[in-house]
Amino acid sequence: MTTPAAVIVDAAGYAEAVEEAVKASAAYYTGGTSALDDDAYDRLVRGIAAWEAENPDRVLPGSPTGKVAGGAVDGDVPHTVAMLSLDNVFSAEEFTAWTVSLARRIGHDVTRFSVEPKLDGLAIAARYTRGRLGRLVTRGDGTAGEDVSHAIGTVDGLPVRLTEPVTVEVRGEVLMTTGQFEHANELRTAHGGQPFANPRNAAAGTLRARDRAYTVPMTFFGYGLLPLAGTDPDLAARLGELAHGDLMSEAARLGVNTPGGTAVSGVVVDTAEQALVRVREIAALRAELPFGIDGIVVKADLAADQRAAGSGSRAPRWAIAYKLPAVEKITRLLGVEWNVGRTGIIAPRAVLEPVEIDGSVITYATLHNPADITRRDLRLGDHVMVHRAGDVIPRVEAPVAHLRTGEEQPIAFPAACPRCGSGIDTGEQRWRCENGRNCHLVASLSYAAGRDQLDIEGLGATRVVQLVEAGLVSDLADLFTLTRDQLLSLERMGETSTDNLLAAIAAAKGQPLSRVLCALGVRGTGRSMSRRIARHFATMDALRAADAAAIQQVEGIGTEKAPSIVAELAELAPLIDRLTAAGVNMAEPGATPPAPAGGDADDEAAGEPAAGPLAGMTVVVTGAMTGALEKLSRNQMNELVERAGGRSSSSVSGKTGLVVAGEGAGSKRAKAEALGVRLVTPAEFAVLVADLLD
Ligand code: IVH
Repeated sequence: MTTPAAVIVDAAGYAEAVEEAVKASAAYYTGGTSALDDDAYDRLVRGIAAWEAENPDRVLPGSPTGKVAGGAVDGDVPHTVAMLSLDNVFSAEEFTAWTVSLARRIGHDVTRFSVEPKLDGLAIAARYTRGRLGRLVTRGDGTAGEDVSHAIGTVDGLPVRLTEPVTVEVRGEVLMTTGQFEHANELRTAHGGQPFANPRNAAAGTLRARDRAYTVPMTFFGYGLLPLAGTDPDLAARLGELAHGDLMSEAARLGVNTPGGTAVSGVVVDTAEQALVRVREIAALRAELPFGIDGIVVKADLAADQRAAGSGSRAPRWAIAYKLPAVEKITRLLGVEWNVGRTGIIAPRAVLEPVEIDGSVITYATLHNPADITRRDLRLGDHVMVHRAGDVIPRVEAPVAHLRTGEEQPIAFPAACPRCGSGIDTGEQRWRCENGRNCHLVASLSYAAGRDQLDIEGLGATRVVQLVEAGLVSDLADLFTLTRDQLLSLERMGETSTDNLLAAIAAAKGQPLSRVLCALGVRGTGRSMSRRIARHFATMDALRAADAAAIQQVEGIGTEKAPSIVAELAELAPLIDRLTAAGVNMAEPGATPPAPAGGDADDEAAGEPAAGPLAGMTVVVTGAMTGALEKLSRNQMNELVERAGGRSSSSVSGKTGLVVAGEGAGSKRAKAEALGVRLVTPAEFAVLVADLLD
């Protein structure tokens, strides 16, 4: 899919766009400090091309559409044969149209096609004299490039000596593999430099850098082999007649790296359809490659076909780049979340300003581990290069350091496990909760014992850690079979605290079903959903007997959530059975189970009309509660509203029937006033629900 071209409306906009594109292009070819990602650049150039098509007499000489490298690049080493660019296609249709027009031009179908990856690095010409690498030249403007011979010996795949003493020029792409890029940024930041935004920038910057205190390896992939002035005439003649695929085999034989040894090796095929098959294969392999590709290059394989097709001033007519969608975009790093996995690994995750990459909106990206954040010198508020290819999890490649404003903030690392509050083992690159696999257990038991669930006083995270570590508790039901002796055996557990804890556990057995459900931690059901489910089904038995359709009758549960709740309950069945056996209450006071299955579903959906002083009313509680309600948490207030027949909500709208506004109530009170919603004080509300207060 092609993203739309930038819209240029007048000559001034056109001139500005050309200037921006030239700057971006220069950055692209020289180690880059462009604020445009590839996609934005492509859009800009397509916009420029569209304007030029309408205004052919006003095309600026510096326009990127007519240029080879498209920008102000240094370079004074002339190329023996121009280093051309490639024309692009973006779809199978465009590709087929190109093959048809090429066939028309040469007077017959192309005999064979060579299909190979379009490597995302920068073009280089490597001149070998009698087998020895003497000169490295960048593409520059295609006619002359910059001498970067200082990089000789630092590029894997570009041997200092060929296997034969021949005089030839090898052309290809210098890039950094993912590993080399990571290493480059590590070295660079360790030497006080700013990280490179992506492997391409890193390769361009590294290739041109002289006098570095350190060496960063890069990788070369050849895609061309041609004679030089000093080449033996027989060899020159032979090279001139070789098909592209054979030239690549020859380059490999001489010791030059080619895509041949990778998963995306070049292949030679007979028809355009077969070429398309390989295009799709290479595209599918892209996400797993250890180096970047931004398309697939299809070439007429035979030298004779190439000669017949000829070249334009910018690109050969016998080759085309089938461009793949951009996999990188620049966006902002808004925050970092720390998530604890099943094994206790604490992994950072980037929260991004949503950005669309290849059709999906990306909001999160992996950051691997804390050391990675430090190594990449990432800061909150940074512009970051985000990479997403195929189904692979998006990753933050690096900050775009030159876009910093100085307002970026350091990323805070957690001092305690974000899930269970225990210490963190920071000994390895990947941080781990000291509770390891038990972290989840500690967190889930602490949650279950919390004030709004089973409300077991004296069972905080520290105590839970002790119980888990002592092997006394391995799930929620174990809590209810703890003995006095077991508790006394724990450190810092005296008789009084033991008795208090046992009493709190015993009291917890009487909590309503809604809270037991919440304590079980059924995925997708929080506190208010648990209350709705409990009120609807009234008993755990009725709930467990319900299928997805029956569960969907509960307000707020849709077709997606219902089956997952059924599955969760089935998974929790043994635990629920043990809780029941331990005497834990499994009923919701005041609720009646729905009519048995087979009844009228619509009646069930409507349910029994709610009774009580707040029947049918949506109530919002805000501010601090006082008087008789002072001790009630927000959750308990919501429970009270629902016991009184009302529906609790956290936001005020036209549908709100009543707002209980305590001290410090702010915007919700103001909104209620503006909408004319009835407002009551906590004291007035306490009178309304007096019968339900104990
Ligand atoms: S052939 C005369 N083959 O893509 C043909 N180029 O966007 C010129 N590139 O300038 C190039 N992989 O820097 C060719 N397999 C490949 C390539 C390739 C990457 C680069 C090259 C070229 C640019 C055009």
